[in-house]
Amino acid sequence: MSKKFYVTTAIDYLNGEPHLGHAYEKIITDGIARAHKSLGEEVFYLTGLDEHGLKVQQAAQAKGMEPKEYCDELSQSWKAFAGALQLINNDFIRTTEPRHYAVVSAILQKLWDQGDFYKSSYKGYYSTRAETFLTEDDRQPDGSFDAIYGDVVELEEDNYYFTLSKHQQWLIDHIEANPDFIQPVTRRNEILGFLKNQELKDLCISRPANRLQWGIPLPFDPDYVTYVWFDALINYVSATLSHGDPLVQKILKVQPPEEDAETAAKGLELWPADIHVIGKDIVRFHSVYWPIMLKAMGLPLPKQVLAHGWWQKDGDKMSKTTGNIVDPVAVIEEWGVDAFRFYVTRELSIGPDGNWTDEGFQARYDAELANGLGNLVNRSLSMLKRYRKSETPAVSNELESLATETITQVKAAYQDNQLQKALQLTWAFITKINQYIDETAPFKIAKDPEQAGRLDEILYNLVESCRILAVLIWPIIPGTAQKIFDQLQIEGTPATLAELKWGGISAGHVTGKPSPLFPRKETAK
Ligand code: ME8
Ligand code: MG
Repeated sequence: MSKKFYVTTAIDYLNGEPHLGHAYEKIITDGIARAHKSLGEEVFYLTGLDEHGLKVQQAAQAKGMEPKEYCDELSQSWKAFAGALQLINNDFIRTTEPRHYAVVSAILQKLWDQGDFYKSSYKGYYSTRAETFLTEDDRQPDGSFDAIYGDVVELEEDNYYFTLSKHQQWLIDHIEANPDFIQPVTRRNEILGFLKNQELKDLCISRPANRLQWGIPLPFDPDYVTYVWFDALINYVSATLSHGDPLVQKILKVQPPEEDAETAAKGLELWPADIHVIGKDIVRFHSVYWPIMLKAMGLPLPKQVLAHGWWQKDGDKMSKTTGNIVDPVAVIEEWGVDAFRFYVTRELSIGPDGNWTDEGFQARYDAELANGLGNLVNRSLSMLKRYRKSETPAVSNELESLATETITQVKAAYQDNQLQKALQLTWAFITKINQYIDETAPFKIAKDPEQAGRLDEILYNLVESCRILAVLIWPIIPGTAQKIFDQLQIEGTPATLAELKWGGISAGHVTGKPSPLFPRKETAK
């Protein structure tokens, strides 16, 4: 067995329903996972939920429920949401599961035994919303704390701290020696700036149990629970243990819990993660604290932290209170999951912020999905049906070099996790094939029996291009890719980018019934 390509999302706070930002992160991670799978790699995709901490405890209280009961119930709709997005996630971790408890406890004990923690009293400002202590440096020029921190209160308490000072230099060196470790480059520079311009403050890893009960108890002091971020980051490793990762078992000397015995027996080689996909607001946790935690545990670092931007709607921050939100479930119900997956992936590259507008969504639906791709497939199959009773003519190579060049470029883009670019290249190909139809005018040639041979050539080039397109789009809009295969009556999966080349459909192959992939919506909203 060999190491799998292991990709993760952040685990979402379970204090409400999933929103566009959560959906976006899961979709681009799914695009990356599917692309690597189609390129022939063995892939493992992890997503899940962050269920501890004050935010979740308060959300449960607001509903008059016990936190565990609240989490068990609400987690079901998040799991269903992952299904509605058609993610190929191999696991879905919840931080309240025994497998996670076991690993967090083992790591805490190991670091405690090594002398990485000390107990000390601290007085300072605390943000419940961000679950973090703030310092004078966090104040804005006018003396206030940014609204993202919510209510900030002053606290004095004893806590456990993780000594970070000795880790600062090697981390700087690692980031400098590995340009891909933090991507995109703006985030890398941000973190390097942060690390080079000040001494790292030790990380508080506990919360007193008399203030916060909802967390994993410190194995060496039951009066405390684990700080939610220390707990949450470990999910990436605790999931691997329940699949029997040999390296993690060896280094942490911890056994998977009884209930995971069956999956653990598989012994999947997962760690280190290849990519942690996260949002821009949590880069410091993933590229400063997490690497230091791993180094202290004795585990290798992830290969990449890939930070995406944040979505707004109509140029404003999304917010439940103002009602400025996009409900992913409603969009999917109205337009289909592929239209949703396509829009968010095509609209921006991984890094910059995005701005959702209903007009922009509909414009892409009409121009790129209904007219561009949908129309091409429909015209191609309809003409083959009308002129050749759906029977594919002899192989012709007129579009082969264009297709081959496109395949090479799209593969490179996917290999590099540049999903937007892969779609741009694919749609450039679609535009050229639609032009090819206009220029070669098969509907005119069809009236002239002497040009039957020429018509055969054109029709072959069109259906074969449709097959190629299905494979190119599969990572992003897999349902549509499968529909194209079904209409072409091609068996098997379109997840075959690794071996994709011109000439896959052979002469005499009979295609199926054309039907619109993206029905036009007459009523504008
Ligand atoms: O931060 N646009 O959870 P979370 C794009 N539990 N992405 C967005 C977004 C938006 N408007 N809003 C949020 C947490 N996100 C922690 C993570 S990982 C060990 C623990 C992204 O529910 C956000 O950047 O607040 C993050 O990557 C993810 O959604 C979960 O956010
Ligand atoms: Mg957040």
